[in-house]
Amino acid sequence: MSIRVLFPSYLVTLFFLSPAIAQQATDDVAPEEATETDAVTGLSEAAAAAMAAKEAGEPVTAQNWMVAAANPLAVEAGADVLASGGTAADAMVAVQAVLGLVEPQSSGLGGGAFLVWYDAESGAMTTLDGRETAPLAATPTMFQDENGERLGFFDAVVGGLSVGTPGTPKLMEDAHRRWGQSNWADLLAPAIQLAETGFAVSPRMADSIANDSERLQRFPATAEYFFPGGTALAAGDILQNEAYADTLGQIAEHGTDAFYTGPIAEDIVATVRNAEGNPGRLSTLDLALYNIIERDPVCANYKAYEVCGMGPPSSGALTVGQILGMLDNVDISDPASPDTWRLIGDASRLAFADRGRYMADSDYVPMPTEGLVASEYLAERSELLSGDTALEDVVPGNPEWSHARLWGDDVSIEFPSTSHISIVDSYGNALSMTTTIENGFGSRLFVRGFLLNNELTDFSFATHDEGLPIANIIEPGKRPRSSMSPTIVMEDGEPVLVIGSPGGSRIIGYVAKTIIAHLEWGMDVQQAIAMPHLVNRFGTYDIEEGTGAVADFEAQLTELGYEVNVRGLNSGLHAISISDDLSGGADPRREGIALGE
Ligand code: GLY
Repeated sequence: MSIRVLFPSYLVTLFFLSPAIAQQATDDVAPEEATETDAVTGLSEAAAAAMAAKEAGEPVTAQNWMVAAANPLAVEAGADVLASGGTAADAMVAVQAVLGLVEPQSSGLGGGAFLVWYDAESGAMTTLDGRETAPLAATPTMFQDENGERLGFFDAVVGGLSVGTPGTPKLMEDAHRRWGQSNWADLLAPAIQLAETGFAVSPRMADSIANDSERLQRFPATAEYFFPGGTALAAGDILQNEAYADTLGQIAEHGTDAFYTGPIAEDIVATVRNAEGNPGRLSTLDLALYNIIERDPVCANYKAYEVCGMGPPSSGALTVGQILGMLDNVDISDPASPDTWRLIGDASRLAFADRGRYMADSDYVPMPTEGLVASEYLAERSELLSGDTALEDVVPGNPEWSHARLWGDDVSIEFPSTSHISIVDSYGNALSMTTTIENGFGSRLFVRGFLLNNELTDFSFATHDEGLPIANIIEPGKRPRSSMSPTIVMEDGEPVLVIGSPGGSRIIGYVAKTIIAHLEWGMDVQQAIAMPHLVNRFGTYDIEEGTGAVADFEAQLTELGYEVNVRGLNSGLHAISISDDLSGGADPRREGIALGE
């Protein structure tokens, strides 16, 4: 249910858009009105100050704990948990539950996530795979038409066919069981309350709705929620979500069994199977069988650091690690030099060539996981960077591998969406989690107060390339290859940076660049995040529009031989740098903040 906003539009701006404008708005209104704003939005002064810091380009600093995520309401829920002695795993549960309400287009109960955990007591790093799985009834050609032609991306995305078994609820529960110490139901309570009383729709959520109007209105339940009375939700509308409150309430009381079995599971399956025009194949058995998988972290050496993250089925840690590993012994000390960006761009192209050939769910296909980040292999690949113009011929390499199988190169389409959470708690534990429903609004199917993912379109739509099988084909129970790169950077066995981003396969470039900017170029985390993006995924060299990087590098990179594309590069980086104190940054391209104490 939504109520059209009853308060002036500057109040929306104050808390959800631009802190600079917010400051001006604060200056322009009487103090009583500003106080009323706090009451209406429920945001603390600390959150408003954190936004102001972001707008001023400054990091937020703290001594004890910190949380950074994509929406201030979610960050505040996590901050409350941390302030009362909860762990980073506890805080993540609260943050994710609120994100699923206030940023439903990016992540939620209907999606999947990867989590990297550094445990202060044991010094151990653990990675948890909460990725969606393909239904048991999935087939390799399910995203092809009767003539064997690949479906158009949105023909596959919108509806039931793209929906994989969600992993996020079980990941929340699993992380809490391993590392949490707060009461489970208490962690879900803030999101339940917000869903019952209503929250102000953010400008980003409203824009996303307006930009997806036709697809969102194909399904009655989705249309009713995002277009109440036939009109798109607008920024500042107060939106309630009783169904979400009820779903979370059942999970609070009974654990995630209430999600993976029983009436909620049956409703999910019915929604997928009855999706008009594009029914899917998910079954109650798929939901009942779902499990979280603990996997070995993948780490790569870069200078004095070990850059660690999520291995297969994510390509994130391998590809970020390959890029950084190839740059380990080359001179990229000057961010103003086009040659630095040639080196970064070509290291990325080489890494993406390997990604397209070798990376997929290693439970289903053999993969040279260790070989891809072996120092000797990356040193050998790095020798290819010794020229002074763009590489002409970029092909996958031959990492050490005990297997003889040859793969074809992948064809899969990825659009940016997703959300990232970084947390450090007062015990010194660190958590990096990237969470998604894949495309903005996922499959567009809405059930029980949340959206269902379209993660299966992260599989390759084609099964073969020039006669060779593709590693990332769809198979029953398999997890689609991801680019999500939740990362913890270590130095001398201690975490020094917690980072990640949304952005489809550009996530890899965003994370690699920001690590380099912080650790190599000495920028603070906020500067490193805000620095203009230059990203090469094995195609065009993308330069972030509206930034100084266009004037600085467009002509030079073109001259070096790249096809340059100036475009929006919508990362959502959230990072915490750890030294004597904590220093957090939130991406100015999105609505989030970093908050600490
Ligand atoms: N669907 C985004 C990713 O997993 O990379």
